[in-house]
Amino acid sequence: MSQQTVFRFPTRTSFSDLTTNKEKIPTPASHEVLIKVRAVSLNSRDCQIATSAYPFPIKDNVIPGSDAAGDIVALGDAVREFFPDLAEGDRVLTCFDQNRDYGPAKDVVAFQNGGGRDGVMAQYIVRAASAVVKVPRGAVQSYSELASLVCTGVTAWNALYGNVKLVPGQAVLVQGTGGTSMTALVLAKAAGATTIVTSSSETKLAAVREKVAPDHCINYRTTPDWASEAVRLTGGKGVDHIIEIGGLGTIEQSIAAVARGGVISIIGYLAEYDAAKVADVNIPLLALGKEAVLRGIQIGPRWMLEELVTFVVRRGLRFQVDREFAFERESIVDAYNALAEGKHVGKICVVVE
Ligand SMILES: NC(=O)c1ccc[n+]([C@@H]2O[C@H](COP(=O)([O-])OP(=O)(O)OC[C@H]3O[C@@H](n4cnc5c(N)ncnc54)[C@H](OP(=O)(O)O)[C@@H]3O)[C@@H](O)[C@H]2O)c1
Repeated sequence: MSQQTVFRFPTRTSFSDLTTNKEKIPTPASHEVLIKVRAVSLNSRDCQIATSAYPFPIKDNVIPGSDAAGDIVALGDAVREFFPDLAEGDRVLTCFDQNRDYGPAKDVVAFQNGGGRDGVMAQYIVRAASAVVKVPRGAVQSYSELASLVCTGVTAWNALYGNVKLVPGQAVLVQGTGGTSMTALVLAKAAGATTIVTSSSETKLAAVREKVAPDHCINYRTTPDWASEAVRLTGGKGVDHIIEIGGLGTIEQSIAAVARGGVISIIGYLAEYDAAKVADVNIPLLALGKEAVLRGIQIGPRWMLEELVTFVVRRGLRFQVDREFAFERESIVDAYNALAEGKHVGKICVVVE
């Protein structure tokens, strides 16, 4: 077999622009590995890219998707010598950024799978051996769960351990019940934190209570001043780490909820906001008043994926995969629609035969 199925977006006006293509299975160059993709995990970013709403330039006719889990099926000539821990048959994850071992991204566009460069929605992909992370033996997680570690997982790990590190006994608040927040919730629970989830939906909160069992849930629609409730739930101290998904529409509440010296990890920008009202909020002064760390995050470097996957596999942590879709055009379009519709709790994935 030398041909494979690859999905591309030749135009990006709607999810239905996705096309099915028969293409040659690539041959790995000397420092590359050939991966049989087993699962692709979708992110909010993928919907933005498919509809030209993403704020960064996108490669023409891009293969979408940034997060893959799969098996190595062939090694380039030099891989055995320079990456002796990699072998055919190993389960691996693709790094979100192909050139970021440490520190901030060197180029926010060029090296991102499924954005500035081709992504992972294919049966086979080649990747630099330096841009994959091996899954340790004994992993109980499905390929979909593993794929979900690549973007939202590393983002959550970066928030909790990339700067001011989470300490057992501290309080962590995650905004909403999407992929990033649900992953951060599982990690925070495993680290011995007191956990708080906010959501717009009682149905979603009930699902989260049943599946992940956080310490506290707050409905941010019925309790718009959720910050006061979070402060009350933490005995007046406030929250040590906040996973900020809303952006301008929620930051004032986050600063009100954060403990003195606490961290607000600025990850998303999904909340609606009134521009005139927001303009009156003096964010620097509010942050100063709390001695809070407001830290912007863009996924994270390779070492974070390595640490994360080690932690997750050793602790046997399981993650919420809301739905899995088949590797067929109509089904993948349905997966995008499901993500955009926002009824999910956790991740939406595509299983690749
Ligand atoms: N900076 C980075 O490195 C990075 C990495 C990953 C994602 N992101 C960004 O983070 C955001 C979330 O991504 P995702 O993949 O986790 O999305 P997702 O799975 O689609 O989840 C989105 C969730 O956001 C919640 N939400 C929306 N408005 C909210 C508000 N006002 N208050 C609290 N929660 C709210 C909703 O929760 P409920 O339905 O429960 O209310 C929804 O489930 C996106 O903006 C994405 O672009 C950034």
